[in-house]
Amino acid sequence: MLQQVLEYAQANRERFLTELVNYLAIPSVSAQPEHERDTHMAALWLAEHFHKLGMSAEVFPTDRHPVVYAEWKGQHSQAPTVLIYGHYDVQPAEPFELWLSPPFQPSVRDGYVYARGASDNKGQHFAHIKAVEAYLHSVGTLPVNVKFLVEGEEEIGSPSLSGFVQQHRKMLECDCVLISDSALRSLHQPTLTYGLRGLLDLEVTVRCLGRDVHSGHYGGAVQNPIMALAKILATTKDDHGRVCIAGFYDDVRTLAEDERAELARLSYTEADLQRETGARAAFGEPEFMLAERIGARPTFEVNGIWGGYTGSGVKTIIPAEAHAKITCRLVPHQDPAKVAEVIAAHLRKATPFGAELEIRLGRGSPAALVDRHSPAMQAAARAAQATYGAPPLFELEGGSIPIVADFQRYLSKPIVLLGFGLPDDSIHAPNERFALACLDKGIEASARFLSEVTN
Ligand code: BES
Ligand code: MN
Repeated sequence: MLQQVLEYAQANRERFLTELVNYLAIPSVSAQPEHERDTHMAALWLAEHFHKLGMSAEVFPTDRHPVVYAEWKGQHSQAPTVLIYGHYDVQPAEPFELWLSPPFQPSVRDGYVYARGASDNKGQHFAHIKAVEAYLHSVGTLPVNVKFLVEGEEEIGSPSLSGFVQQHRKMLECDCVLISDSALRSLHQPTLTYGLRGLLDLEVTVRCLGRDVHSGHYGGAVQNPIMALAKILATTKDDHGRVCIAGFYDDVRTLAEDERAELARLSYTEADLQRETGARAAFGEPEFMLAERIGARPTFEVNGIWGGYTGSGVKTIIPAEAHAKITCRLVPHQDPAKVAEVIAAHLRKATPFGAELEIRLGRGSPAALVDRHSPAMQAAARAAQATYGAPPLFELEGGSIPIVADFQRYLSKPIVLLGFGLPDDSIHAPNERFALACLDKGIEASARFLSEVTN
């Protein structure tokens, strides 16, 4: 059966790529209101694609971007059901000038397809869709029942999907959830993710004046909000990158020895980090190895800071206010609300006299830890080994997929995080790409998983 499926995928490779290119050409940027129609188009494109494969599919409107749901229930009712999750929304493509080819005019060169969303996440869930097509159009059936849930708000924190999952528990009922929205170590060293970090976002404003004022007429006599903000932020971390906020690390889980040993086997080095990111040097808590800093430790990062005059020439003012956007990555057992509280308390205490602090808190999403030993995970390990030629290593990812914690809460079924991308895909950055070999291997791994999970 598998042989036929893989032959079909091989024979239809060119068409698959053309379809993916069409999908990638839709600029479904969830964060930008001007792309509202495009996100809708991507949802419709998907639903139509599912219909063409012979699956039933529906587009559910939400407050923001629609959810696409599709299913194939041709197996008898005792057969397992696999729920496959993905997201059709993409990150903003800015800065455009750094792209070698335009982000929404997919370009196939040197064995990669370059486009925003190629790896994160269109290329990855497209591999699952093509695996399902290969089964249905070659052997005419699938080893399991399959449901697809593809959302359009992952890159903005999945604000609608949480309620959707809660509301549609029955429709989403399954035996396991399969998610490909991360990366392998390499095409010869597969990895299975068993944890994702959570996220807490906040925006702070420091106000010192009723209006911008002349820096000569008043300078020396009033507080400067940009300086005040810089000082406040500087108190949050020491020179080694440890967060100095009281209570911040309170609930952080210490890794078991076998977990540390497993992470050490990834042998992720400073040189890897430098090659992937262009970092001048590694930085961060010296007592933890890099894989731990990224996967098992929480962070406090400033994402943007602004205020005052930044145009050309000189403008002699003291600005009235200054702003910063901050996000924290959370690890298992940290409660986003509690972390938000200790951060707010710290920032307030650090605010100098003559400055006023305002904090706007986001929704936040907790970290997720999945069972490394579930039968579904073992099926994924067998599928990965057969596809990539080596037994997979387990890893903790530093990124977040907000809905995973909700899946655990509302569906209570094992989750498999089997990424198809590569570490140098440049997700969220200019020149994002997805290797054509990753597409081939992703289809194969998906096909193998669907047959292995029945055992
Ligand atoms: N695919 C990523 C998550 C990811 C990144 C997993 C790197 C493994 C390694 C996902 O699309 C993503 O970027 N999520 C956001 C969520 C946020 C906007 C709520 C993230 O992690 O920043
Ligand atoms: Mn992303």
